[in-house]
Amino acid sequence: MPIPQEFIQELKSRTDIVDVISSYVNLKKAGRNMVGLCPFHTEKTPSFNVSRENEFFHCFGCGVGGDVITFVRRIENLDYIDAVKFLAQRAGMSMPEKDFDSGITNLKNRIYEANREAARFYHKQLYTPQGKEALEYLRKRGLTEKTIIHFGLGYSPQSRFELVNHLKSKGFSQQEMIQANLANLSQKNYPFDRFSDRVMFPIIDLRGNVIAFGGRIMSDIKPKYLNTSDTPVFNKSRNLFALQFAKNKANGQLILVEGYMDVIALHQAGIENAVATLGTSLTTEQAIVLKRYCDEVVVCYDADQAGQKATARAISILREAGLRIRILTVPDGKDPDEYIKNHGEQGTARFRMLLEKSGSDVRFQLDTLRKRYNIDLTEQRVEYLTQASRLLAGLDNSIEQNVYLSELAQELNVDKAALKNQMHRYERQNRRDHQKREQRYIQEHISARNDKINNEKFYNLRAANAEEALLALIMLNPDAADTVFSGVSKEQFITSFNRKVYEILKKHAMQGGEFSLTDISGEFSNDEVSSIAKILASHPRENDAVQAAREYMQVLAEENEKMSPEQIAQADTQTLMEQLQKLKEKKK
Ligand code: GTP
Ligand code: MN
Repeated sequence: MPIPQEFIQELKSRTDIVDVISSYVNLKKAGRNMVGLCPFHTEKTPSFNVSRENEFFHCFGCGVGGDVITFVRRIENLDYIDAVKFLAQRAGMSMPEKDFDSGITNLKNRIYEANREAARFYHKQLYTPQGKEALEYLRKRGLTEKTIIHFGLGYSPQSRFELVNHLKSKGFSQQEMIQANLANLSQKNYPFDRFSDRVMFPIIDLRGNVIAFGGRIMSDIKPKYLNTSDTPVFNKSRNLFALQFAKNKANGQLILVEGYMDVIALHQAGIENAVATLGTSLTTEQAIVLKRYCDEVVVCYDADQAGQKATARAISILREAGLRIRILTVPDGKDPDEYIKNHGEQGTARFRMLLEKSGSDVRFQLDTLRKRYNIDLTEQRVEYLTQASRLLAGLDNSIEQNVYLSELAQELNVDKAALKNQMHRYERQNRRDHQKREQRYIQEHISARNDKINNEKFYNLRAANAEEALLALIMLNPDAADTVFSGVSKEQFITSFNRKVYEILKKHAMQGGEFSLTDISGEFSNDEVSSIAKILASHPRENDAVQAAREYMQVLAEENEKMSPEQIAQADTQTLMEQLQKLKEKKK
């Protein structure tokens, strides 16, 4: 059942959209709105707008927008009910005691419960005879009892039915185990454990839910790790291992390592701001999440070729997200886990020294570049310097640029001014490319969105524009709402998406509700709410709203008299002639 309107109203009055969004985005005042860098795509110039007065946000860059509930839905990846709960908690309100959960929320909750139960089960196995070997394995790798408990590590038994039977005894259905990806279905249609004879690493989200597992085999058999596939509660490209701990210890900086074991070893050594991706290379989504908890990421990947390649990739993704970057290379080709273990008691102190010494990503990139050239040869030296100035042209900070220009000039004994000139040339080129890309991006995005949400708009542009103006008037100018409601029937709306919005607004009006996005966003998908927010963002408040409403109503009435393309295709000649005559008379 839906959440009562009064509750939403109360929630709304206690929630300031600027306040909520400010905890994720750095907002600055710009006219009547606040603007900042969009948290849903990476951009360099702010096109993300928030209106406190009208209680919505909209990004002109990627087209995302909506009310405060939609914002929370998107940024925390929650469904409607959970987003309301999230905001209610924040506002100090308790949710009414009813079961508002929709089908999908129920399923998600069941998956969380199944995962939690599985984590408990796996952990207990460590202390049974069949889990003895796993426990010894973890100890041999240097993990203490405390660490094993802290991370909730466990063991999945070899028999393929123990977890399935255990979950069954706890009341979980076959369907739920499979949806959680804890079990697979055999060819004969019975479920069996996904993980067998592996050391288990639970993956936990920021709210403390167990959302997935990584399972490591204890021998050299491949695959070394088996992870949970994506499920309704788990997306491997959006989450990070141990972020639930690390975010509280970040203090502006997070360390990104490759493996679960590296994270665990670092945390055990007291370096608790380390995280890892979940068996894939770093994604933009993860970088945006990292940006919420720190300003600087120390990338600490393996020293081998694959690791260096992954580092270069991570640098560009992290830069795009606006993070500062340092690169830490562990000596002797070791990974952080081995390094710390090898140095025994001094491990922590030594690793901290490496952290202190770690260079910027620019240094890393210059060094990588330099390795490609033999700078004793003039031609190759020129090429190196050209490429280096191109790299520096990509930096936003001119002090930083200057420092590296000086270093380069000194190192290779060349004129700094000449290097600088070359760099400026690349900067100009970058700006041109960037503008072109951004324009293309905006155009593609907006038209794609139009297609998806209101695909009739393209063929009914004049009508759709008038419809949208009327919708904006209703929501932004309460004075005009009555004029519109009494003068326009829903059948007069030509495009069906706008008609749906109109109907829902009208329904709320009859119930005496208000018309801000928050009141109606529960009845739309995220993408639909984005479209509505865009309509609001593109229509300023009118001075004479009633007069404006009359004009748009007139346009809509005219459009209604026109025939639709289908009608034209089907009409007989006589009807078409009559229609043409009517239009001609109007023009006079
Ligand atoms: P140890 O070998 O036990 O020290 O593990 P590690 O955590 O150091 O892993 P490693 O550095 O070899 O790999 C880094 C990360 O890549 C792991 O933590 C996994 O997330 C992932 N990974 C490694 N091997 C596999 C694999 O075979 N399959 C999948 N899906 N992921 C893997
Ligand atoms: Mn390792």
